[in-house]
Amino acid sequence: MSIKSKTAKNICVIGAGHVGLVAAACFAHLGHKVICVDNNKKRINGLKKGIMPFYEPGLEKLVINGCKKEKLSFSFSISGSVKCSDLIFIAVGTPPMPDGSVDLIAVENVVKIIANNLNDYKLIVSKSTVPVNTGKRLLKIIENNKKGKNSFDVASNPEFLREGKAIFDFFHPDRLIFGVGSQKAANLLHEVYSKIKTEKIVTDINTAEMIKYASNSFLAMKVSYINAISCLSDKLGADIKKIAHAIGADKRIGFDFLNAGIGYGGFCFPKDVQAFHYTAKKLGYDFRLLDEVQKINKNQPKLFVKRIEERLGTLKGKNFSVCGLSFKPNTSDIRFSPAIKVINLLLAKKAAVYVYDPQAIDNSKKILIGNVTYCKKPYLKSDIDCLCVLTEWAEFEKIDFKKLKKQIPGLLVADGRNTLNREKIISNGFGYIGIGR
Ligand code: UDX
Repeated sequence: MSIKSKTAKNICVIGAGHVGLVAAACFAHLGHKVICVDNNKKRINGLKKGIMPFYEPGLEKLVINGCKKEKLSFSFSISGSVKCSDLIFIAVGTPPMPDGSVDLIAVENVVKIIANNLNDYKLIVSKSTVPVNTGKRLLKIIENNKKGKNSFDVASNPEFLREGKAIFDFFHPDRLIFGVGSQKAANLLHEVYSKIKTEKIVTDINTAEMIKYASNSFLAMKVSYINAISCLSDKLGADIKKIAHAIGADKRIGFDFLNAGIGYGGFCFPKDVQAFHYTAKKLGYDFRLLDEVQKINKNQPKLFVKRIEERLGTLKGKNFSVCGLSFKPNTSDIRFSPAIKVINLLLAKKAAVYVYDPQAIDNSKKILIGNVTYCKKPYLKSDIDCLCVLTEWAEFEKIDFKKLKKQIPGLLVADGRNTLNREKIISNGFGYIGIGR
């Protein structure tokens, strides 16, 4: 069924993961008619009943509203959904391979099915993060597999949304990138995003694909840079928070992504930096800067645990209350989470950990092995030796250290995200370890 408004389109989003589901719900909110497709039946059945597959603030409301207004629906069938759509956004997973390359099987399979179902002109847009040159490859796959003479275009529209702030980011992006090979494709993307007021940067497809990697690698580099400075800061007794603020106050640098901590994680930065490094190598450029970015990041959890060990002595038999499992706050995502790395290091040293996270407990149960107790709130009993904050959920800032003073005197507080009030902790007689301070 077609929709009436001039710029409203029939859109198919393939992949109901973080990128796809958020995009589908937000496109529907903009007034487009959207079908979101995924081959995970459990996920699609859940979504049809309003059950979200992951936690993302504001998403549930948007999905439920979209379905109520009949702007959003869910399906397992790519073929049927492609046939009734003007644009098809591909947002399936592109997981990392052990050699640093990107696994494009899912994208390629989807594209073959799209090719088989071209019943009219379609714009096929990649939202998944794919290596440079993938758009051109997809174009060839469609040419080779399509039945009939229907025309199509391929485009790249990389997604920059952050987990936990995805809905806000979708509606308020700093810029939109339209990597296209024709004016028709550019016009269609302009229409789809006509209600979003931001700079729309039109490029060729390769440039758009490269922008995504270059952006994420730059941000990861910023995090690793401040983490490297935090190591020096530790050695010199300087304060990384003041340093970061002062550096960031220079407008050419900016304040963002200068929070020192136990490292970056999630499903984008680690895999994108690795893939960009791999692509550069393949092209004959040794991007050693990115090697170093990754090395610094890998080392942060180890340095943190080493500093705890220096204060507590052997960790064997010590009890840790761990606050935070997700790779950052406001998400249930623990993929490549530095918090999990720290916990695994503690467990390897035969410590006992009592873990709490507002959203990520269920996911963690699937992967943590060893002396782990899952708690419904921060474990703050007298038998703990160290309280570790590994993710900066706002609720951890409310821990009442004045009250804890009587309960657990002399406790060591290890703040892996520099998120707690250090002065308050120290003035109440606790030990404190931060990152670079
Ligand atoms: C990132 C990009 O920001 C987004 O544009 C892209 O589309 C997907 O990848 P996301 O992975 O959701 O988004 O998280 P982000 O907020 O960027 O943080 C990434 C990691 O860096 C987190 O582990 C975070 O804790 C860490 N980080 C970030 C720091 O350690 N310090 C900082 O100052 C900022």
